[in-house]
This record gives sequence, C-alpha cells and structure tokens, in this order.
Amino acid sequence: MGKIIIAGNWKMHKTQAEALEFLTVLKSKLEDTDEAREVVLCVPFTVLSILSKSLHGGLVRLGAQNIHWEDQGAYTGEISGAMLTELSVDYVVIGHSERRQYFGETDETANLRVIAAQRHGLNPILCVGETKQQRDAGEAETVIINQLKRGLVDVDQSKLVIAYEPIWAIGTGDTCEASEANSIIRVIREQLSNKNVTIQYGGSVKPDNIDEIMDQSDIDGVLVGGASLDPVGFARIINYQ
Ligand code: PGA
Repeated sequence: MGKIIIAGNWKMHKTQAEALEFLTVLKSKLEDTDEAREVVLCVPFTVLSILSKSLHGGLVRLGAQNIHWEDQGAYTGEISGAMLTELSVDYVVIGHSERRQYFGETDETANLRVIAAQRHGLNPILCVGETKQQRDAGEAETVIINQLKRGLVDVDQSKLVIAYEPIWAIGTGDTCEASEANSIIRVIREQLSNKNVTIQYGGSVKPDNIDEIMDQSDIDGVLVGGASLDPVGFARIINYQ
C-alpha cells in the first residue's frame, strides 16, 4: 500500500475567480480531515499562481495537468518544470487518456514527461487504462502492462503515483466495479519494483461510490474529474468513511 492521495483533476474548468470561490468552501469542509490523507488539486495553468498563494501552509497540495520534457525551448503551448515549481506545484498528471486521445500523447512522450517531472522534484501521476473495446476483447491487463513497461523506462519509483483509469469509465457515470478496479490495481502493483507506490483509481468517482472504492485492499486513492469541481461533493470524497 502507498500513501493515500485524493486528487481532483479539474481539466479545462474554472477561472481564477471560480477557483478561489471553490477553495473557500473546500477549506471550510476540511477542518477535521485526517492529515494522513494527501489532497491534491490538479488545475489549469492559469489558476496555479493564485491558488499557490491561497494554499500556502494548508493541507491541500497543488498539481498541474502537463509538463514538457525539455527545460525550455521552442515548444509552443507547452510548460516546463521550472515554471511549475516556481508556483509551488507538487504533482503533475501525465499521460491522461484525454491527452492520449486528443493530443497525440504516447507511452513514449508520457515517459519523457515523467522523467522530467522527477528531475524537477515533482510527483508524476502517470495515467494508464484500457478502452471499452480492449476490455471486451479481454486485453485490459496486457494493455496496461505494456503502458507501464513503456511509461516507466528509467523512472524512479520512489517518487511516483499511478492512476488506473479505465477509459470507458471516465466522465461516463459508468464506474468500474470497485472489486474489479482493485484486481487490476493488484496487477499494476505486481509490475512495480517499489510496492509502496500510490496507485489510484479514476473514472466516475462520486460521493456515493467513494466509500466502497476506498474500502478495497489495494486502492490507495482516487483521481477525480467531474466530481472534483463541486467543493462540497469533493470534500465528501476526501472525507470518505
Ligand atoms: P471523471 O474523470 O471523474 O469525470 O470520470 C476522471 C479523470 O479523467 O481523471
């Protein structure tokens, strides 16, 4: 088992004003939260600065949604590790299925980004997961094992988070059965040399299914999309029973 990490992935949502409003409500709901639970908000680049000032010293940590593998250069639209660490970012989501599907990310580019994140002292959250078609063909485990093999070349497993996100469960309301997610996560852990890597589940995590998900033996946390946009619901997820 790894450290418990509950992360929100805001994707392309929230302006600065909306982010501050969210944080005020969220903070008011975390007064009794167990400090052993790490809470991370993976937000758009444009709200990192304002949130880094408001989060200072609190329970909640800041995450970004991408990082380029070079330290600087002619890479229009990309962001570097130093740009993130300057804003007190601790985590970065890498290889999310939306990046793979819409922006041509591959296991190889995800691998380069993971290595760059570690070089800058950031905790990469590497996302893996199968499509519905791959699952129906009985290929889920093989697909995930291959994603890990290629994504983890030369990666230091002492500073790493993996998120298992079955693509068919993302944003669909169609959650993977908690026990099924648990058994895939066990397979993921078998592939790792460090058995204490935090492995999260992601895909339609909601206040009404979080307790069952976190009750599983191998699931160390969650990566939450849609349900992380509402501070009251996200606080319920963080304060799972
Ligand atoms: P979802 O997204 O919770 O909206 O399904 C999860 C994710 O994409 O990380």
